[in-house]
Amino acid sequence: MKILITAGPTRESIDPVRYLSNRSSGKMGYALAEAAAQAGHHALLISGPTSLDVPEGVDFLSVETAAEMHAAVANHLRKMDAAIFAAAVADYTPASPAQQKIKKADATLSLELVKTKDILGAARHEIGFTGILVGFAAETENLLANAQRKLKAKHCDLIVANDVSRSDIGFDSSNNEVTLVFPDHTEFFPRNLKQKLACHLVHWLEEKSQILAEKNP
Ligand code: CTP
Repeated sequence: MKILITAGPTRESIDPVRYLSNRSSGKMGYALAEAAAQAGHHALLISGPTSLDVPEGVDFLSVETAAEMHAAVANHLRKMDAAIFAAAVADYTPASPAQQKIKKADATLSLELVKTKDILGAARHEIGFTGILVGFAAETENLLANAQRKLKAKHCDLIVANDVSRSDIGFDSSNNEVTLVFPDHTEFFPRNLKQKLACHLVHWLEEKSQILAEKNP
């Protein structure tokens, strides 16, 4: 299978020396790319800035901003059999980044932000992707309800629901504990290494792809 994976945070420029970002380490996405490559698949990892090494046998595209990640995904997605969107993409970006370093002048400073493109949300209708689509939902409250809403709104086959308010799992941790939200049921995946969850998800993709191939020979 050809599998595209997005990973890591994005960085949105405020001025030449400052940016907006988030706490994503990229570990989950990199573990997914590694698991896919080890299982013999062709993995394309599109990643924002992280401190991680690119896993062996994985094709890699480095991006910085949400706009760059969107462009890279739009370029490659249609050729893929499956895609997993594990990146923590910035939802907002500065409306007009300053060309020069902003000097401290007043006691307060306001930044105008504009919404970025929802890359996963664009996958089906705008980009025209017809393969197996997996998203993540990073939540601090109402985990299942929000994940179910995202599953429908973004036309996914699966949403991996992640409670990012806990420090022992999620952002920057080596472990994760998630609920897999499918259109007709949910499945709890107890706390384990991100590598274990990655293998479980790659295995699910293989089974799903097999079922689809039997339905549409
Ligand atoms: N996502 C994306 N592009 C964005 C924002 C999110 O591709 N601009 C993807 C993420 O990679 C993830 C899924 O959408 O797979 C859900 O991301 P999340 O941050 O949980 O939710 P949002 O859609 O951004 O909604 P909110 O921040 O309101 O919870």
